[in-house]
Amino acid sequence: MPDSLKITFAPLGSAPSGLAVILAASDLALSKTAAALLAPAKDLLARAAAADGFKGKSGSFLDIVAPEKVAASRLLVAGIGKPADWKELDVIRLGGAICGRLPDAVTEATIVADTVAGALSADQAADLALGLRLRFYAFDRYKTKKKDGDEGPKKRSVTILVADEKAARKAFKSREGIADGVDVARDLVNEPPNVLSPPEFAKRAAALERLGVDVEILGEKEMKKLGMGALLAVGQGSRKESQVVVMRWDGGKDGAAPVCLIGKGVCFDTGGISLKPGEGMQDMKGDMGGAAAVVGAMHALAARKAKVNAVGIIGLVENMPDGNAYRPGDILTSMSGQTIEIINTDAEGRLVLADLLWYAKGRFQPKFMINLATLTGAIMVALGSEHAGLFSNNDELAQNLTASGLATGERVWRMPLSPEYDKLIDSQFADMKNTGGRYGGSITAAQFLQRFVGDTPWAHLDVAGTAMNSVKNDLNRSWGGGWGVRLLDRLVADACES
Ligand code: BES
Ligand code: MN
Ligand code: ZN
Repeated sequence: MPDSLKITFAPLGSAPSGLAVILAASDLALSKTAAALLAPAKDLLARAAAADGFKGKSGSFLDIVAPEKVAASRLLVAGIGKPADWKELDVIRLGGAICGRLPDAVTEATIVADTVAGALSADQAADLALGLRLRFYAFDRYKTKKKDGDEGPKKRSVTILVADEKAARKAFKSREGIADGVDVARDLVNEPPNVLSPPEFAKRAAALERLGVDVEILGEKEMKKLGMGALLAVGQGSRKESQVVVMRWDGGKDGAAPVCLIGKGVCFDTGGISLKPGEGMQDMKGDMGGAAAVVGAMHALAARKAKVNAVGIIGLVENMPDGNAYRPGDILTSMSGQTIEIINTDAEGRLVLADLLWYAKGRFQPKFMINLATLTGAIMVALGSEHAGLFSNNDELAQNLTASGLATGERVWRMPLSPEYDKLIDSQFADMKNTGGRYGGSITAAQFLQRFVGDTPWAHLDVAGTAMNSVKNDLNRSWGGGWGVRLLDRLVADACES
């Protein structure tokens, strides 16, 4: 698989180099630029299209190898349907689909960003480029041998021919920061758990300092001082030290309340003493997907110099069975002072978040806080992998998240909270217990979190179905898809920057 993609912009009239991609609308309607490129080959397109049944339908492609008389080594015709109906996401997806269609042997390609309905705007051209970037990512750092067929180039360069190349280049700048943030999150989720321990994860988060993010790392000593008895209990069976990382991006007004993004970072979840079954346990390396999305989002915000004050807080632990591990029956005192009876040591994520939410609320008094967590298998039973579960005590925040989800394709679906569900986690020995019985498991988990947020506007995204083993589509081929980075970036852009 190729592993570096260079994207440049050039004026529409430029001669294409390498493979040329042209856009054909319904009934093979071409832009003037594309028609001019094909002019010397007369009826080439019509004949190839007839032979292939290609009609320019959105999502369809026609591949013409070594086209005679055309100034390109190869021609890829992308069907675009009716470009007048395009939404932002359609253009991003088109970029991804084109990237997926480029043959491995091709190191150089040119996309003619012009349609029968007019040339792509600078923003659309930049969206197209974003799609290419998102699709291009692959995690193959641990493959020492290439298999037959994945011989592709290490480097690929794509030029996008566009009406206003200067404006497109500028528009791509911020999207490049977002794509980088997504790739940061993907790398973190894909890394194996022997490599990505809590201290190593913290080290990688500290790399955000390069972008002007202020990074603080709290070790177990500091956490003890703060009274984070819930988070600490989860990590106490591990050889690795638990860590909390606080990342601050101050791009907004001096003194304006920040937004807090909070992530569950269980670097490996064995279940602890309530050990998980062996089958599929390797997937629990992805139980830090919420924290990965927070780091990726902070990367995106800083890279595009977002005009917002944002704080990312992640709790990094490893949930292991051990002589020193916490047990069912233990009663923990959380930072809030509330006590928790442990019923199941595999319900560990909520313990980590309990202390982080309380800490975020007290230290930063945020405008709102959003936590992301691969919290429950139950949310996958409810929603599968196409939506994350959304729980919130604030309708406006919930609506904004829903809108950002639709715009980015990282969709969320709101689930209920109510006192009747809350009662299910009352404990006979402590203020609460850490599980609520068989039914409504993702809801009782959310009720647990709500006990630590007070009146702060808050949303909890249960990303167990989306952050790992991610859906493969035009914008993602990776197990760790970086889900949530674009959603959070968009939410901040729409709810805080405008
Ligand atoms: N990390 C898991 C949830 C999970 C499961 C994420 C599958 C991704 C895929 C979480 O810590 C967990 O084990 N939850 C338990 C809670 C139960 C013990 C109340 C679960 O969902 O079974
Ligand atoms: Mn667990
Ligand atoms: Zn977990």
